[in-house]
Amino acid sequence: MTVTPRVVVLVSGSGSNLQALMNADLEMQIVLVVSNRKAAFALERAAAAVIATLYAPLKPYTDAGRSRAEYDADLAQKINLLEPDLIVLAGWMHVFTPAFLERVRVPVINLHPALPGQFPGSHAIEDAYQAWLEGEITASGCMVHHVTPELDAGEAIVTRVVPFIAGDTLEIFAERLHAAEHELIVTATRSVLEIFKQPA
Ligand code: GRF
Repeated sequence: MTVTPRVVVLVSGSGSNLQALMNADLEMQIVLVVSNRKAAFALERAAAAVIATLYAPLKPYTDAGRSRAEYDADLAQKINLLEPDLIVLAGWMHVFTPAFLERVRVPVINLHPALPGQFPGSHAIEDAYQAWLEGEITASGCMVHHVTPELDAGEAIVTRVVPFIAGDTLEIFAERLHAAEHELIVTATRSVLEIFKQPA
């Protein structure tokens, strides 16, 4: 009898990638959705699916002069209480300090809208589009990678190239890239969850 893997998903925005995971036919149970932004529509998507949510703002820590490492350590401990098998960062716009990664004892994977080694940070799509306009690249893409203390730099699990097409506006390209992300996050999560199907 295999136990269904427990997954915690961290979000900060609209949650379209969370929705892709929720809609997918994956052998997993999303046991908690965490957002550092109260207005994140992702929280409404989780609530609509009767998935537990946690709003974890950083501001109370900074207002109290407490460090990001303390925020990260506290968040890791709260997540550990759910005994997850996998943590998925799906549009999570917060750079973890080692304090988080040292405390969670399961794989942490992150979706990033760029290819390995290209355009780290929170403006990846815009930066890639600008590079295309300047003739430096003909394609960008997205990846899901293992999370390490270095920003957007962990080993890639799966990548998807998304070419630019003549006449692309930033919005048209972003839409094409987000569609690729929605497929990629499911493929990557399925791939990582495979390890839980191995006979003990
Ligand atoms: C995605 O493009 C993700 O790669 C980036 O932020 C966006 C999140 O979208 N980090 P959503 O909140 O999943 O709709």
